[in-house]
Amino acid sequence: MEKREQLYEGKAKKVFETDDPERLIVSYKDDATAFNGQKKGQIADKGVVNNIMSNILFGILEEAGVPTHLVRQLSDRESLVKRVRILPLEVIIRNVAAGSFSKRYGVPEGGPLARTVLEFSYKNDALGDPLINDDHILALALSTEAELAQVRTYAFKVNEVLKAFFLKRGLRLIDFKIEFGLDSAGKLLLADEISPDTCRLWDTETNEKMDKDRFRRDLGRVEETYRDVLLRVKGQ
Ligand code: TMP
Repeated sequence: MEKREQLYEGKAKKVFETDDPERLIVSYKDDATAFNGQKKGQIADKGVVNNIMSNILFGILEEAGVPTHLVRQLSDRESLVKRVRILPLEVIIRNVAAGSFSKRYGVPEGGPLARTVLEFSYKNDALGDPLINDDHILALALSTEAELAQVRTYAFKVNEVLKAFFLKRGLRLIDFKIEFGLDSAGKLLLADEISPDTCRLWDTETNEKMDKDRFRRDLGRVEETYRDVLLRVKGQ
């Protein structure tokens, strides 16, 4: 697989074209941002952790019946993926109140929820990724009703699979964000990444935060935490 010109550079990854128009190479960076890019930093080896961890989780999800964009890992930081058109939606699942949910609705972090929440944000940096509902999504033609129904089904499936997976490794899956894309045949695939950048994971014993909130909130031991999460995901 020949790496060709850079197609795009995001906050955490670069994307390259290849000699196959249907395949892209993603390269994970150590750059970290928070609060829509207002806070900037670096987390040593985050790119390696997020690449390897995402690939392990995508493999498990694929087996559980959730199709993903992953083709194969190329190196510690790079993976080959299917080219998709990303739906401009952040799909967020919440098992426990935390983060922007706690802030918006005035409930303590860690508080139980009477049901699992699925929410959408409109992926639009200029607008600060605003919360958006199904009607808004359809009104803005960001996706079709059929795609939205499939997204919901897959998102809840991802939650069930990952909740059980992390629990076995001493981590509670509090919430997470995923993204989906459509391949050239119009098939919906789980894309982007699943990593400590995109999940809240709390240690089942100590309740310690084991995710990007350590960077967002200056809690310290950021690199160590990413490394520890990867070891647990690997089953070590
Ligand atoms: P929130 O509580 O800040 O809305 O975050 C919900 C989940 O989404 C949390 O697990 C972190 C993740 N997330 C991202 O992956 N990217 C983002 O830009 C934001 C704001 C949150």
